[in-house]
Amino acid sequence: MTNDRLLRALRHEPVDTTPIWLMRQAGRYLPEYRRLREQAGSFMNLCQTPELACEVTLQPLRRFDLDGAILFSDILTIPAAMGLGLHFVPGEGPHFHHPVRTPEAIGKLAAPDIADDLGYVADAVRLIRRELNGRTPLIGFAGSPWTLATYMVEGGPSKTWQNIKALLYNEPRAMHQLLDLLARTVTDYLNAQIAAGAQAVQIFDTWGGVLTPAAYREFSLQYMQRIVQGLKTAPDGSHVPVILFTKGGGPWLEDIAATGCDAIGLDWTIDIGTARRRVGDRVALQGNLDPMLLYARPEIIRAQAAAVIDDFGPGTGHVFNLGHGVTPQVDPEHVAALVDAVHEHGARLAS
Ligand code: CP3
Repeated sequence: MTNDRLLRALRHEPVDTTPIWLMRQAGRYLPEYRRLREQAGSFMNLCQTPELACEVTLQPLRRFDLDGAILFSDILTIPAAMGLGLHFVPGEGPHFHHPVRTPEAIGKLAAPDIADDLGYVADAVRLIRRELNGRTPLIGFAGSPWTLATYMVEGGPSKTWQNIKALLYNEPRAMHQLLDLLARTVTDYLNAQIAAGAQAVQIFDTWGGVLTPAAYREFSLQYMQRIVQGLKTAPDGSHVPVILFTKGGGPWLEDIAATGCDAIGLDWTIDIGTARRRVGDRVALQGNLDPMLLYARPEIIRAQAAAVIDDFGPGTGHVFNLGHGVTPQVDPEHVAALVDAVHEHGARLAS
């Protein structure tokens, strides 16, 4: 492989500079993405057509000197394959025609057939690996069981989480039944991505941070740990690093590190140096520039990126990222400034 900085940092091996990839590095802030999405007719059509998913995955790598590609897909492919009727309401985000709100509805759910119903994802992974031809590693991903459940129970984005929290507190057994089904499905889904060529995987626990500490351990972390333990090695026998990203997970870093994951994804509400002192070198750390900094001027982006790298400090085990995804109105030139600044400043620290 020509550029393996990302995998080296995840393994705590020395690197020539800090590797960087960005959550949502492909998407609406890129005019070439908007054009292709219009041609494709819908976002799900992009995800479900391997050639289009491959093209969108590669778009940001043509513009920026990124150290990783991330499979273009969505975490909601799993509930979509379970028959919940996924659709996107413009300006509102994802919705389901058939949310699952009762123990009876949960009892009727069945695991999707990963090869049949989600085969397009593994096909996309194989195609992207071929097209990347070793230029950077390919990251696969899935949603955490808890985060998938929030969308499945609420039926869409929520500010209060009242339906899923009522279910969690009133019907903990049904909640666990749903999370158990999702954990088994996500494990099989990530293993299919690994078998097809994903070289690292990230679990997105976007909504873990809305739980109490006790509920986080019981209803989110426990299931992510089961997934970590159920992941297979790559076809060549090598270990595939797993990154756990809980937005709002700062209070629970020690617990997250204890799952056996290789890296923790940090949001922007914790200093990366503080995080490192808390977990030591047990895991690598990924993050954690405030995504809204991309709306600041390039020289400010550069200074703040350097500050994150300096706060992490010397030694290996840092993968640069934002604390959450790139948002649609960001100027691509600002992303270019960030990527270059990270490589320049990271090299100064490495040498
Ligand atoms: O990071 C990447 O470049 C890979 C692609 C990716 C997408 N979704 C593409 C996408 C990844 C990793 C995701 C994960 C995802 N999807 C998460 C977890 C990460 C996070 O952001 O917290 C979540 C919660 C979802 C569910 C989802 N899908 C949401 C909330 C939305 C946005 C709706 C909106 O209109 O803002 C989507 C749609 C989606 N997924 C888009 C993209 C590029 C936008 C689709 C479009 O309108 O073109």
